[in-house]
Amino acid sequence: MVSKEIYMSTPNIVLNVSGIEVIYNHVILVLKGVSLNVPDGKIAAVLGGNGAGKTTTLRAISNLLKAERGEVTKGSIELRGERIENLTPADLVQRGVVQVMEGRHCFAHLTIEENLLTGSYTRKDKGEVAANLEKVYNYFPRLKTRRTSQAAYTSGGEQQMCAIGRALMTNPSVMLLDEPSMGLAPQIVEEVFEIVKDLNQKEKVTFLLAEQNTNMALKYADYGYIMESGRIVMDGLASDLRNNEDVKEFYLGMGGSERKSFKDVKSYKRRKRWLA
Ligand SMILES: Nc1ncnc2c1ncn2[C@@H]1O[C@H](COP(=O)(O)OP(=O)(O)OP(=O)(O)O)[C@@H](O)[C@H]1O
Ligand SMILES: [Mg+2]
Repeated sequence: MVSKEIYMSTPNIVLNVSGIEVIYNHVILVLKGVSLNVPDGKIAAVLGGNGAGKTTTLRAISNLLKAERGEVTKGSIELRGERIENLTPADLVQRGVVQVMEGRHCFAHLTIEENLLTGSYTRKDKGEVAANLEKVYNYFPRLKTRRTSQAAYTSGGEQQMCAIGRALMTNPSVMLLDEPSMGLAPQIVEEVFEIVKDLNQKEKVTFLLAEQNTNMALKYADYGYIMESGRIVMDGLASDLRNNEDVKEFYLGMGGSERKSFKDVKSYKRRKRWLA
């Protein structure tokens, strides 16, 4: 088992986010100095509740903030040591970084196969595209059986798989996966995460995922960053976070307490010290 220090000091950091601030609509400061590292071949997870800033963090990396009237106003984002803040999402896909957006975003009126093929529209080599499609069907046999179905008439799980499959069609080395468990039954969530693990191990795809489902994410990730109100409040190896009492209490639903955030636990502990 690697230690936190070894994880952090690996020379193969693929993504390095350092002290970024993000502002929406010129005034709303949403990320307040977020830093994180994703080493090559690992699965890292950004965790936290509604509005913590997970999606904003992923969108900052994949440069998808502009459409939301957001911008990175401080800090830096590097891909294998190179600054990428000024690259377009298309440039990033060329460099192997692809984002699967929250809420699946399949084209409802296209078939599953047509959806997958939109992930390879820039590639001319038909043989390569066909091989890629076979690869996707290999990982997602469910999609193969549903290949001619309109996405609108497939299940939520199949749509999530379609969104990941489409991203896979771009031959990524890094996948940013926003809330893959959203709205899915636990068994389907497990199925999706198993495929993520497979892609990580067999295709060597590095993952940064955003999840509210802390339990599932920490089961599959190597490393976790917990966010609250635009800041990372805790980070560590997934195995350590799973056993951390505060994480258990606030995020794994094992404490039965009404307190809901680290901010609260800090003031609670402080209060205990004062009263002692
Ligand atoms: N386009 C926008 N304009 C203004 N504020 C925004 C915009 N998008 C997000 N925000 C705000 O930024 C904060 C962080 O939102 P974000 O979507 O990053 O959170 P999240 O952690 O992904 O939450 P969730 O788990 O609900 O998806 C929230 O307070 C949200 O209201
Ligand atoms: Mg989100």
